[in-house]
Amino acid sequence: MRILIAYTSLSGNTRDVARAVSARCEESGHAVTWIDVDVQTLAQACPEGAAHDLYLLGSWSINAGRTPPEMKRFIADLVAAVGKPARLAVFGTGETQWGEEYYCGAIRRIAAFFGTRYPRLEIEQMPHGEHDALKIQRWTDHVLACTTAIGTDPDIETFPHADPARVVP
Ligand SMILES: Cc1cc2nc3c(=O)[nH]c(=O)nc-3n(C[C@H](O)[C@H](O)[C@H](O)COP(=O)(O)O)c2cc1C
Repeated sequence: MRILIAYTSLSGNTRDVARAVSARCEESGHAVTWIDVDVQTLAQACPEGAAHDLYLLGSWSINAGRTPPEMKRFIADLVAAVGKPARLAVFGTGETQWGEEYYCGAIRRIAAFFGTRYPRLEIEQMPHGEHDALKIQRWTDHVLACTTAIGTDPDIETFPHADPARVVP
């Protein structure tokens, strides 16, 4: 698959997660387009078009669980280019010291905006140790397996929602 990984990172935590996700995708035989949205626009990174089989967006959270402006700008560009892709998953880092309700708030906001059916990956601060490495690996494998399973099936409803409580019939 062609996978687009786009992330924003102020101090490197989310970049570390993005690197681990990217490495796992490549180990599994997929081609990754890598975008640091703090320094690159979608058009610069994808001059031949933004269409990919899977989109993975990574963000840290700012100011009461909000999305950093660089990621907001990237999302606007992405939606203008390809709409809201069904095959899109979100990961990122945050800190519980900002309050449970705001912890990784950007990840939840982005996931809700796209209505993604994939689970979210949330890591506290910098990923460290075997525990986080395994968590990132398992999340990536799960996202890849779900995407491969749905393949080109246009009936995305066959793909079980990660958070059934958010699905309003
Ligand atoms: C000004 C500021 C506001 C923040 N607000 C939140 C927040 O509301 N929720 C949260 O989970 N983390 C918050 N954080 C913590 C960062 O999201 C966290 O440290 C993250 O891992 C940084 O990722 P990065 O190293 O990729 O920049 C805030 C950090 C800063 C500097």
